[in-house]
This record gives sequence, structure tokens and C-alpha cells, in this order.
Amino acid sequence: MHRIVKVNRKGPGRPSQRAHDSSFPKPSPSSTASRPRGSPRSRARPPPMPKQRLLIKGGRVVNDDQSVEADVYVEEGVVQEVGPNLNPKPPSGLTVLDATNKLVIPGGIDTHTHLQFPFMGTTTKDDFYTGTKAAVAGGTTMIIDFAIPQKGCSLIEAFDKWKGWADPKVCCDYALHVAVTWWSDKVKEEMKSLVQDKGVNSFKMFMAYKDLYMLSDEELYAALSYCKELGTIAQVHAENGELISQNAKKLLAMGITGPEGHALSHSEDVEAEATHRAIAIANTVNCPLFVVHVMSKSSARMITNARNEGKVVYGEPIAAGLGTDGTNYWNEDWAHAAAHVMSPPLSSDPSTPDFLMNLLANDDLSVVGTDNCTFDTCQKALGKDDFTKIPNGLNGVEDRMSVVWEKGVYSGKMDENRFVAVTSTNAAKIFNLYPKKGRIAVGSDADIVIWDPEATRTISAKTHHQANNFNVFEGMVCHGVPVATISRGKVVYHDGVFNVTAGQGKYVSRPPFPPYVYERVKQREEVCQPIPVKREPYAGVVSATPSAPR
Ligand code: URP
Ligand code: ZN
Ligand code: ZN
Repeated sequence: MHRIVKVNRKGPGRPSQRAHDSSFPKPSPSSTASRPRGSPRSRARPPPMPKQRLLIKGGRVVNDDQSVEADVYVEEGVVQEVGPNLNPKPPSGLTVLDATNKLVIPGGIDTHTHLQFPFMGTTTKDDFYTGTKAAVAGGTTMIIDFAIPQKGCSLIEAFDKWKGWADPKVCCDYALHVAVTWWSDKVKEEMKSLVQDKGVNSFKMFMAYKDLYMLSDEELYAALSYCKELGTIAQVHAENGELISQNAKKLLAMGITGPEGHALSHSEDVEAEATHRAIAIANTVNCPLFVVHVMSKSSARMITNARNEGKVVYGEPIAAGLGTDGTNYWNEDWAHAAAHVMSPPLSSDPSTPDFLMNLLANDDLSVVGTDNCTFDTCQKALGKDDFTKIPNGLNGVEDRMSVVWEKGVYSGKMDENRFVAVTSTNAAKIFNLYPKKGRIAVGSDADIVIWDPEATRTISAKTHHQANNFNVFEGMVCHGVPVATISRGKVVYHDGVFNVTAGQGKYVSRPPFPPYVYERVKQREEVCQPIPVKREPYAGVVSATPSAPR
């Protein structure tokens, strides 16, 4: 059994590290109560704040490129040393975690969440507190959520609003993608300012949700061109919104009102067509493309082919798409079927999760998100008579890491290093957080998970930490359990016990031009421009310009 060991021998002026953990009583800022009477006030300096120090002993440190048996020493939230038999001095005030027979991995980065999202007439159950608390319980130490303005509204105001919601509540670090839901010169100006002043380096464009968020091809062309100019990542929700709308009308007219109508109206073609179109537009303007929530074989094949052709495209499957499937839409229990409604839908072909996992293992797909966007049964019931009104979204932020371990590593498709790549490192590289995030190395943020590959847990809504009443992975037994989660050097979760404070997470700025993505893009810009063919001017006869008919 993994144990936390506290070395609490106090040295002079060094109270135990516990004393300044947020959930434990803080040392009083001024020590007047204990100051001897008559002693001069100016000499009674408050004792220096003790350093937050943590040693993780005896584990195997797993990065995306190698695994080594090593201890990890952390001070003030930053990794100071990685090596064998570390023995940092002094021993007082040091928290020691025993990781014998465990893996020590970079904290997970969930590239796709919607916490506290006002959507389809309601707001998601999980807010930035419950959502990030559940995240750390599952071994995720950073989320990237989406600020989504209504059409015609300010992107900066949306960003500020989402940040205002997140800052007082987050229990781990976070960042924000921003959605471009309309197009104008003002949108362009605001995108620039978000990049330069607010640390945003990714924008999501919707090809679905007609009349709500959807962009036309002309707007997509303009938005992707500008994303490239700014050095950002263009993300697309790839579904053909016009086809969905026509399909839905037809199905409702046929009397199909239940959740199976959602799956039928969002057919695989609808996703594949939009994925292909997005890749074509992105490639035309030399913009790196990140296809969010890749749900079908056809869409994944489009991405695989594009990557094989050398295009700068990344695909993000989600935990639910790897762990369950769309046969659930035909469940006779309406609430069960509705709980799985999301867009694009889970694939109705039950062999799809395995297919997507193979592509993820082989680097055809790049990172795993969740699209965590939770609604309870009463909220889903807004669409009880019309599947188009069922709020779209499901859970994943807590279970993502375990689902990927179970279906990816335990199944033998990927090794522990690829697991780290797809759950953390690749996201950090693509969104320019690396190597502060996504790696355990000297100088990196101490976002670390002690992972027990042998332990198992059974996922259930009865025991999960998310706010909704349904879990799409209900009953799944997963090997791979986070024993302890460390966020910026603080043990925030350990053996089922939380030590989190709302608002302790930080907003993380992401500079533009991530080298992992843009080195190639910039080089192409320089060397892949079309050049005119040198030829002698045409010297022959030119036909007379036809005159206008009389
Ligand atoms: O069903 C989904 N995906 N809900 C959240 C909104 C989005 O498209 O990501
Ligand atoms: Zn989407
Ligand atoms: Zn989403």
C-alpha cells in the first residue's frame, strides 16, 4: 500500500511544510501574540515562510521519451532534481511520498472541457470547482476549457467572463481556448489582442450548430488564414451543420423523436465531410489544424491520410469515444440513451473505440481530451419530445486517464511512454506549454501523478466526484489508478482524500507560435510558395474581343 510519510521534525525557524498547506491552519502573519513584552517591534521580524518541499521516492519516472528509476525533489512547486537516492537537506519540513512499484508521470492535460457552460437552455452541472476537483482525482492537473461568445458578441468579453468564473473556483491550472462564432474586423482585432495580451493561442471554429455558432466556408477561410498569421492553432468542430439540420427535420417528421434521432441525424458522413473540408481549407492557407472530438472511423481516416500526406493536422479523440459507443442511443431507457447525446455522436459502430485507440497508439491521432460537458437527467429531459433539444454533452474529465490506460496500455496497444504522450506531453507541445507542463524534468512545474498500474477501480456515478448523476463508463473496471496527484508541488489528492482549495489553480498563458507546430509551418511558408513558370511572352495572334451584341 502506498503511504505518505511526513517528516515533521521542526528545525529552528522552519515549521512543518503542513503548516502552510491551504487546508491546514496557516501560521499567523504577525507573531505579536508570542512577542515578549517590551521587545522592540522593529526587530520582531516574522519568521521566513517555510519552503514547500516534496520528495517522491522510489518510483519509475515516465516521460514520453523514456522511463527511469528515480526520485523527484520539488521545491516551491517546481521540480529541482530527478535522480537516484535523493536525500535533500534538511529533512525537516519535507513531505515524502513513497512511490515504490508505482509510476511517476506528468499530470494529465485535458485539452477539451466545458465547465459551467451555458448551453442549449441550461448550464452544465460541473462548474470549475467540481470539474477540476474531479480532474485531480483522476490524475489530471490541467484543463483547457472554451470561452464561447454568442454570434455578434465580443470575444474578449467572453474570455473575461469565463476567466471570472474559473479563477475563484479552479483546483488545478487551466487555460482557455476561445471560439470564433462570427466574423468581422472587430473579431480580428480581438483575436490579436487575445493572443498578445491574454495568453490565448488556440481558437475553435464550429462547422455545426447552424444559426448558433456555425461559420460559413468563407468565414472559415478568413478565420483560419488569420489563425495562421497570429501563430495560433485552429481547432474545428467538424460536422456539416446544414446536413444535420435537414436530417433532423426529416427524422422528426417521421416520428423519430428519441435520442436515436440524434445519432441518425449526425451520421458518420456528416462528420467525415466536414473533417475533409476543414483539412482542405487549413491546408490551402497553411494553417495548423486541430480537429477536436474525433468520433468516427471516417473522420479519423481523413486525419490519418492528411498526416500521411505531410499536412499539419492533429486529431483529438475523447475518453468517451475510446471507452464506449453509440449503440447506447438505441437503449430502451430514454434517460440512459439521452445521457450519451453529444456532438459528434458516439459512433454506432461498436468497433470504433478500438479503431480510434489503434490510431492513437500509432500517432495518427495525437491527444486525448474529454469534451466534458455534463448535464443531469432533468436537464437532458429538456429534449424529452425532441432529440434536437437534448443538451449535448457527457462526462470524462475524471476518468480519462484510467480509460486510456485500460483500453490503451492494459490492452497492449501502447506503452507507458505513449500513454504519457497522449494524455499530457503532446497537448503541452501543441499548445506551447512544454516543458513546463507535460514533462517531469528540472525546472518543470511539479504537476505530477503517482500512478499505480496494477490497481483497479470500478467507475460509477455512485462514487465519482463529478456533479452529474450519470457516468457513461458505469461499471467499467479500469487498471491504472492515480494514487496521488500533485499540483504545482502541492499534494491535492492522496488515497481518496482531497486537499484542495477553490481558486488554488492558476490561469496559464500560452504564447503563440508553438515550435512543435510552427517550425514546419514557417518553413513551408518560405519554401513552398508557388513560383511562376519562366517563359517567353506569347507573340501570336490574339482573337478580337467580341463586341457587345447590338
Ligand atoms: O456535445 C458536445 N460536444 N457538447 C459541447 C459543445 C461542443 O461542441 O464541444
Ligand atoms: Zn464541439
Ligand atoms: Zn466541446
